[in-house]
Amino acid sequence: MNKPVPVILDADPGHDDAIAWVVANASKDLKILACTAVNGNCNVHKAQYNARRVMTLIGLNAPVAAGRNCPLYRESLSAPANIHGESGLDGPALPEPVMELEECSAVELMARTLKNSDEPVTIVATGPLTNVAQLLLAHPELKNRIARISLMGGGIKYGNWTPAAEFNILFDPEAADIVFSSGIPIIMAGLDVTEKALIKPEDVEAIKAISNPVSEIVWQWLEFFYRFHLSIGYRGAPMHDVCAVMALIHPEVFTMQSMYVKIETSGMYTTGKTVGDIYNVTGIKPNATCLIDVDRPEFVRLLTEYIRCYSEVQ
Ligand code: BDR
Ligand code: CA
Repeated sequence: MNKPVPVILDADPGHDDAIAWVVANASKDLKILACTAVNGNCNVHKAQYNARRVMTLIGLNAPVAAGRNCPLYRESLSAPANIHGESGLDGPALPEPVMELEECSAVELMARTLKNSDEPVTIVATGPLTNVAQLLLAHPELKNRIARISLMGGGIKYGNWTPAAEFNILFDPEAADIVFSSGIPIIMAGLDVTEKALIKPEDVEAIKAISNPVSEIVWQWLEFFYRFHLSIGYRGAPMHDVCAVMALIHPEVFTMQSMYVKIETSGMYTTGKTVGDIYNVTGIKPNATCLIDVDRPEFVRLLTEYIRCYSEVQ
């Protein structure tokens, strides 16, 4: 068996963030060194509380810290409460956190974790990229301690918050620009793939049938998340953030294309767009491996199996 890949999970949980953490924590291929919360789906105070509630539910023991409560240079966008709810993670009741929040900031926790790790660490970022960009600005010397960044964000073909931009990137485009320009290898799970990674009602039934303490919560999160997406025409709940984790542990379920991706930070209509050079017309070396398609049945099967792992004592 391969040595587990050390990771830091950075998120704004969020239903699909939470399910991504369920998978990451169940996988023996990952070793979670730290968790950090970022402002996005909800403010960072709610995000860190949600992060700790999810960690308590799934038995994830790692230091956890909060980032700052706004993007690098802009005001926060407000995500409508019907997507993730008032709390940022509405739906079933969750346990109160058993772990304290670290006194240091998310950036300091990330820096400490990178310094203390005996090998480069992968960052899994499933919210706006504020924390990751701040880390790169504050600690350029730690760049080579980051093995790669697997992120949910953007969309080569289209957006979901504007016609051009996806929420996580639009929320903090300057942060995304810093990350994509950093030279650190990037795996980009954008809308091109995440909207194909759908959990349909029959999949929810299969998860419900597992009947362990985590599946009992996950199926209710899925129902909550699906209700909103159904109302805007989706045929299932898109597992956006789960793709950023699954790409590390089961890359074989994805079709990928490497390309140069630049972030639009000042377009009149296109701010926040991930501009992908699909045909390499610029001749610039790719900076991102973009997920563009997924074997949906296999993705759902794997996700279901990871949830089933919680039937055994962790
Ligand atoms: C992204 O926005 C959030 O609502 C989800 O958690 C995901 O990270 C999708 O645009
Ligand atoms: Ca998210």
